[in-house]
Amino acid sequence: MKKNILFVCLGNICRSPSAEAVFKHLVEKKGEEGNFFIDSAGTSAWHAGEKADARMRRHAKKRGIELTSISRKFVPEDFDRFDYIIAMDRENMDEMKRMARNKNDLDKLHMMTDFSQKFNYHEIPDPYYGGDEGFELVLDLLEDANKGLLEHIKSS
Ligand code: 4NP
Repeated sequence: MKKNILFVCLGNICRSPSAEAVFKHLVEKKGEEGNFFIDSAGTSAWHAGEKADARMRRHAKKRGIELTSISRKFVPEDFDRFDYIIAMDRENMDEMKRMARNKNDLDKLHMMTDFSQKFNYHEIPDPYYGGDEGFELVLDLLEDANKGLLEHIKSS
């Protein structure tokens, strides 16, 4: 059965498009892309319709990862369309918890960092107002946590 995975941050131009692309890259390397539908969204519509942040795209590209998604806002119907909804930080998680309609919706919500293997971060830090090292850290954390997420999905 195909699994539908949605990654969510605030603007849907830095962290969640990267999480989407890193996860796609990972499953493509393993030839498992047919088993997944992968998307991302933001809890705000501030950047709706825009490509991912140019700095984020540049850092991802250095690792061979292409960010192709267009920003859109998270909507309650996403709870119906996705099996796993992965928040980048606590604020994104709290916002989606407020939008959840029932326990089934709540059970789909997870923190990205709960799947970390090497790192001990509790959130994916927002890189938007910082420098290059923030974008690199986002990618390091996402490459690690997405491996953990894939293992979790395959074992459940
Ligand atoms: P993201 O980063 O949530 O990882 O996409 C941000 C993008 C834009 C803003 C904040 C965070 N902003 O304030 O416009």
